[in-house]
Amino acid sequence: MADDRQTEIRGAFDAAAADFTALGEHLWEPIGAAAVAVADLQPGDRVLDACCGTGASAIPAARSVGPSGHVDAVDLSGPMIDELRRRSGDLPQLQAHQADVTTWATGGYDVVQSALGIFFFPDMTAGTDHLISRTRPGGRVVFTIWRGDSMAAARRHLRPAIAEVTNAPPVPPRPPHLIDQINQPDPYAAWLTERGLTDVEVTVHEHALTMTPEVAWLVIIGSGFRGELAKVPAELHDAVRERYLASLANEGMSRLDATTLIGTGRR
Ligand SMILES: C[S@@+](CC[C@H](N)C(=O)[O-])C[C@H]1O[C@@H](n2cnc3c(N)ncnc32)[C@H](O)[C@@H]1O
Repeated sequence: MADDRQTEIRGAFDAAAADFTALGEHLWEPIGAAAVAVADLQPGDRVLDACCGTGASAIPAARSVGPSGHVDAVDLSGPMIDELRRRSGDLPQLQAHQADVTTWATGGYDVVQSALGIFFFPDMTAGTDHLISRTRPGGRVVFTIWRGDSMAAARRHLRPAIAEVTNAPPVPPRPPHLIDQINQPDPYAAWLTERGLTDVEVTVHEHALTMTPEVAWLVIIGSGFRGELAKVPAELHDAVRERYLASLANEGMSRLDATTLIGTGRR
């Protein structure tokens, strides 16, 4: 079951890789840059960037640690890693690896960071504990998650659009998940503290997307939502796009909340 879920996640992000970069300037990059600013990386630091995607946090991290530092950037998705290698050719201190980071063996990092990745792990707590164990004693972790209902409005408009176009019942909401209980600052800080971290802090990074039709559709094709679209025959994608954009317009939705929580702590 966990393997099926992981195959599904990888498939969604494999398909999204090029559009993921296009959405990056609106979504992934500001979020990644905010996390790296909080991480306060120093020249020479050794960093693990877990669930790196196309490098929204790994690339600024590599710039911060400089040529004397090192960043291992790890993602399950081969196309994401290919795209990251293409984008980071001028940063020899960044090494991109296609792997499941929940079994990543190298350790002793000064900082382990993950932007919008840990909630995809089949067991979020065990996977996060593994990442923490990759940090050297006294090193720091920086884990970014969505706050509350961030991004949920896109799903709320996408699912009925798919159902209407395919004549299928709407995809049911996913089963309850740990992330639903810890997606606000206080419970997130408490959960990080339970992981054995000290000096835990949670920074709220307010962000919103202006939903022009172009950006609103990129939100679907350049993110994990791509996995839902992938189940729809390609010839129906234009119709889904039309219904989805009409639904957003009917509600007068011009901004999408994309606020994140940046949790930090020391091992
Ligand atoms: C929402 S994206 C975020 C990417 C990037 N950190 C960013 O902020 O742009 C989540 C990424 O996590 C990756 N991922 C999910 N589970 C993973 C795992 N077990 N090991 C490595 N990568 C994983 C996915 O392939 C995807 O690229």
